[in-house]
Parts: sequence; structure tokens; C-alpha cells
Amino acid sequence: MEKFVIKGGKPLTGEVTISGAKNAAVAILPATILAAGKCVIENLPDISDVAASLKILKALGAQIRMIDRNTYEIDTSMLVSTEVPAELSRKMRASYYFLGALLSRSGKAQVAMPGGCNLGPRPIDQHLKAFSALGATDSVDYGMISVRAHKLTGAHIFFDKVSVGATMNGMLSAVMAEGQTVLENCAKEPHVVDLANFLNMCGADIRGAGTDVIKVRGAQQMHGCTYSIIPDQIEAGSYMVAAAATGGDVLIKNVTPKHLEPITVKLQRAGAKVEEFDDAVRVSRVGELQPLKINTMPHPGFPTDMQPLMSVMLTVAKGTSTITEGIWDNRFRYADELAKMGANIQVDGQVAVIEGVAKLQPAPLHASDLRAGAALVVAALMTNGTSEITEIQHIERGYENIVAKLQALGADITRVETEPAIALTPAL
Ligand code: UD1
Repeated sequence: MEKFVIKGGKPLTGEVTISGAKNAAVAILPATILAAGKCVIENLPDISDVAASLKILKALGAQIRMIDRNTYEIDTSMLVSTEVPAELSRKMRASYYFLGALLSRSGKAQVAMPGGCNLGPRPIDQHLKAFSALGATDSVDYGMISVRAHKLTGAHIFFDKVSVGATMNGMLSAVMAEGQTVLENCAKEPHVVDLANFLNMCGADIRGAGTDVIKVRGAQQMHGCTYSIIPDQIEAGSYMVAAAATGGDVLIKNVTPKHLEPITVKLQRAGAKVEEFDDAVRVSRVGELQPLKINTMPHPGFPTDMQPLMSVMLTVAKGTSTITEGIWDNRFRYADELAKMGANIQVDGQVAVIEGVAKLQPAPLHASDLRAGAALVVAALMTNGTSEITEIQHIERGYENIVAKLQALGADITRVETEPAIALTPAL
């Protein structure tokens, strides 16, 4: 087991370079299956979700060559299987993208019911609705979900709920369906657009990604391409919040400032200074933090993945903040950890009310999921003492090199291997 040991109290200062977007990478890697040829994917974040996706591709028969730490050549000309090994698919929720990609390419797919962060019920009914409208059937057996179709035919699909995953799986499954598919009530996140751009570079005909309505004209044939993944909006937002929360001054490079606007606006209202450049933002704060009202919503609303980070910052704002979680049922699991640190945060269903306190105190902390874990790292940096965070594998699913990046900003953080538990009875 590993943990982070963080000695807080220093404002973060300096420069940090943002990695490629996790949520784009975990969709684009399965999408290489549709290219049925060689793709070179650049700006892949070096995180465990990407490693798991590459392992799945390899298990399906893809030839994978590492060009450098963030660039891989993936050749999907020859696949040997349409079954994603259960132990790999359970590790990450986004393994559901292999359903859409394999269904499109091979007419069948089998994936374990998705794992990933525990944020409450995570249904995939809208994904299945899209597959079914295109002509596929599905079944669940012993935790494995199977989809199959003799032929996929374009259809008109209206999503009952705005879902990133269903929108992306809708595109993946429609790319080679006969005729036109119209997807309505689509998610508009930057990674939805990135997946569409990648597929179009491979020969797909997808229009409207980034709006409510996406039209896909089925392609006869796809091919490989070289593609660079967009910067990670949430990783960038996390460093923006860390800079503001610690009263620091950080230049955050390799970002798309437009994607950060919902975060920028809130940080400015909270009293931080945010300067935008072509592909960088600089965040600093000197004065007191002001409280905020935040409602998480699908893009271009305030992203749910930034909610725990913002809440942590607001624990020391001067007044009462209200956070309403509009996407997930179970996204305040970090509140108990913050309470241990002296924060005044009351959660009632989907709403958290935070009364600002003067200072957070160090504590032993437990990361319950990816973004909650990142938020606790920021919380520990805001104290004047030493905190330890366990279950950091959640954090490492989504943040490339977080320790080195924070150390370069002056943070006192180390990753420590903990002692294996001592067996009380001899192993037989
Ligand atoms: C993606 C992101 C995740 C982010 C979320 C919302 C990835 C790998 N993960 O997750 O970090 O928090 O978007 O921005 O990209 N829903 C249904 N039926 C479905 C699908 C979803 O009811 O078939 C509901 C979910 O329970 C949730 C809401 O729709 O309440 C949004 O989920 P969705 O956008 O699909 O999230 P993910 O794609 O899983």
C-alpha cells in the first residue's frame, strides 16, 4: 500500500504543465479499434486508467508500441477477441467504451459491468438504448454485459438524460452503421468533441459534437491517424484551485482556457485573480476567500468533477457557501474527512452547506474516489501541519505525476510505501 505524506502551509508558486485529458483518452483508446489500422496517439496522460485501457487493447489483439511516455502507436488491424477481460474492465468505469467500439467493428462485445469511482448508482441504460436503436441486443450474465448485432442501421436516438458516456458510446456505435444516426440531448463536454475529432480523422463523418444534436453518417471504411489528445480540463482546474486555496501564484500551461471558463468564473468570484493566455492561465490570490453558491451541471455548467476541490477551498472562505450536486448521488463522501480537519460542512442529500473556518487542521485522511482524493491533497496543503492520505490509487487513476508536479510548485509532498499488514496467524 502507498500513501501521500503532505506537510502543508506553503503557498504554491511556479509553473505546472497539464497532461492530456483522462476522459478523452479513455474513449479515444477504445476508438482506435474502429480505425482497424495504425494510430499514433499523442499527449496520453501517464495514469493508471490509460495503462488499463492499453492492457485491454493488448488483450483484444492490438499491437502496441510505446514511442515515449505519452505517445503510443496502436495497431488494431488484427483483433483476436471481443471480450474485455473482467479483471481489467472492473478497474475502470470507462471500459464501457469498448462495448460501443467492438460492437461497431465486430458486431459483438462483452465487458464486465463497469467499475471506477463509487459516486452512487452508475446506470448505463442510455448507452444500451443507443445500441438497441441501432439494432443490437444486450444481456447481462454473471456481472458481464454482452451486446451483439448482425447489422447496425442508423437511427434517431433521444437520450432521456444528458450523459457523457452514452453520447460517446452513441457516436462509437453509429460510426459505421448504415445510413444516418441522429443523437439528441447529447453531452457537450470538451472530451465529447475530442472523440468526434479523432473519429473524423480516422474517416468518420460526425457533425455537431459540442452541441445538443450530433449527426453521424455511417462510414464504409475507417483508417488510422495521428492524433493529439486535448489538455485535461479537470487536472488544470485542480491546480487552479490549489493555487487559489493556498494563496499562491501558479502559471498553468498546456490548457485550453475556454474549457476552463466555468472554473475561472467561480475562482474570480471567490477572490482569486485569473489571467488567461493563449494556452495557459495564471491563478493567484492575496485577499480573503469569498463564499460561493455552486450547482454542478453538464457542460458548459460547473463540472461535477471540480465540486470536491471547490468545496475544500471554500472551507476557509469568509461566510457560508452552498454546493448543490446535480449529477451524482454520492459525491460528498469526502465531507467526513474534511470534518476531521475542523471544517464546518453539513451535507443534506445533494446539498452541502459550508461555513468557513479560519484554518484547516492536519489529519489522517482517506481518499474515497479520484476527485475527492485530489481535493484532500489540496486540503492537506492548506493546513500548517502534516497529513497522510491513504487509498491514493484512486488519485493515481487520474493525475499524472501529481507528486512531482506539486513538488515543483514548492509543496512538501512525498509518496511513501506503507508496511504490509502483519499477518496475525501464519499463512497455511
Ligand atoms: C463522465 C466522466 C466523469 C464525470 C461525468 C459527468 C468519464 C470516464 N467520466 O462519467 O468523470 O463525473 O462524466 O461529467 O468520462 N446516467 C444514466 N444512465 C446512463 C448514463 C448515465 O442515468 O446510461 C446518469 C448517471 O447516473 C449520472 C448522469 O447520468 O447521474 C451523468 O452520467 P454520465 O455523464 O454518463 O457520466 P459518465 O460518462 O459515467
